[in-house]
Amino acid sequence: MRTLTKDTVNKIGESVTLLGWVHVRRDHGKLIFIDLRDRWGIVQVVFSPARKELLASANQLRSEWVVEIRGTVKKRPKNMENPVLATGLIEVEADGLNILNESKTPPFALDTDGYEIGEENRLHYRYLDLRRERLKNDLVVRDKVIAYMRDFLHKNNFIEIETPILTKSTPEGARDYVVPSRIYPGKFYALPQSPQQYKQLLMVAGIERYFQIARCFRDEDTRGDRQPEFTQLDIEMSFTDREEILAMTEKLYLSLVRTLFPDKRLTLEADGRIPVMTYKEAMEKYGTDKPDVRKDKNDKDELAFLFVVDFPAFEWKETERRWDATHHPFTKPRVENVEMFWKEFKERPGEMLADQYDFVLNGYEIGGGSIRIHDPELLKAVFEALGNAPEAVERQFGHMLEAFRYGVPPHGGIAPGIDRLVMILQNEPNIREVIAFPKTGDGRDLMMDAPSEIDKKQLKELHITIEAKPL
Ligand code: AMO
Repeated sequence: MRTLTKDTVNKIGESVTLLGWVHVRRDHGKLIFIDLRDRWGIVQVVFSPARKELLASANQLRSEWVVEIRGTVKKRPKNMENPVLATGLIEVEADGLNILNESKTPPFALDTDGYEIGEENRLHYRYLDLRRERLKNDLVVRDKVIAYMRDFLHKNNFIEIETPILTKSTPEGARDYVVPSRIYPGKFYALPQSPQQYKQLLMVAGIERYFQIARCFRDEDTRGDRQPEFTQLDIEMSFTDREEILAMTEKLYLSLVRTLFPDKRLTLEADGRIPVMTYKEAMEKYGTDKPDVRKDKNDKDELAFLFVVDFPAFEWKETERRWDATHHPFTKPRVENVEMFWKEFKERPGEMLADQYDFVLNGYEIGGGSIRIHDPELLKAVFEALGNAPEAVERQFGHMLEAFRYGVPPHGGIAPGIDRLVMILQNEPNIREVIAFPKTGDGRDLMMDAPSEIDKKQLKELHITIEAKPL
């Protein structure tokens, strides 16, 4: 039976079988030492000259070969202990070796943190890059964070529901990724920029408390905290208000940090709550809508959460010469009815506030949400105010307006980004570090070589002709 590296420490004097990769090989005169690595860690294996044949086969071993090693767990002599290693008090004296697979020499070192290696190389060989301890640990922590969120929300009566990836354009302010339809020539699906409309339709469906670990797709310029596809903890609730949504989010995030990251220091209000600041105050005092309110910005273990509320409902888009929703058009402007909306919109569109909030951590926007419009007439008015002709509203959002005529509960929600949260918790400089297979800064998957051309037959089936030669 296999013993994991981490369990060897409890097996002193016992015979064990280890499986894993050769992390490093060191030759010390007549002895050969192997650091054997599996997902859980590293253990030192010694091949002694007493077994000549075994020593000869150990001599062939190179970094990253996959091996099965049998041996006996021994306490290390006092002066040979390694306090840095979790298994540093013991070593395994080998009596059998089975080479399961050889490896080419890796293109870069795997026993460093990897920051020193060029990104192109790391992403091309991502499956090797992920073998390094730092990245493996980032994935382990990401899994723990997501598992905590799921468990917390289930305990609070939420249900997780998957929503479609092949769908229709939904406005979150970025360009859509589109997928051509084979069956309907000239028609396209859009990949969701977020599950926004579906989660609202689930409220119409009477689900009341929904969440999803949701993949979102946005064709926009990539930055350190922005990827073309990323993951949100998407949440929607019925019969709710801003206070309830923020209190629930606060409870989830504070308990998550306290449980999974007990060494982090939370900067909170004197009463233990996450501070709440209006948009106006944030802009006046900090000149940004995502202020970094840490006490000491050099301290890597300080976490300063913040809710920013009362955003303006609309912002002027100079390029398109029209007013646009600051968040998205489903957000409720602070008006009583359609008449009041038109009056205020005509008189002072830039001053109207919305029931919209952002969730900020250490100067990063880690989430956003709002109370939604549930009056179909008001929703229609907002679409029209944003410059959409009535036919266009009907074509693009007719399904929402129709659904909202069948008894829609007041509702609202929030969608914190998971990649940004894990990046900050892990003190990583870029969200790419906490995503298993991220895209490069210019949107490519170097390992799979995507995007790539497709063959003529596929293009024909999709009724597509390419005008310009692909780059
Ligand atoms: P919003 O567009 O503000 O809201 O997105 C919510 C959160 O998602 C994260 N995020 C990103 N993370 C990585 N890469 C990106 N390209 C990226 N874009 C956004 C951020 C952001 O705060 N449907 C609404 C939410 C709602 O109203 O409930 C929405 O998507 O952390």
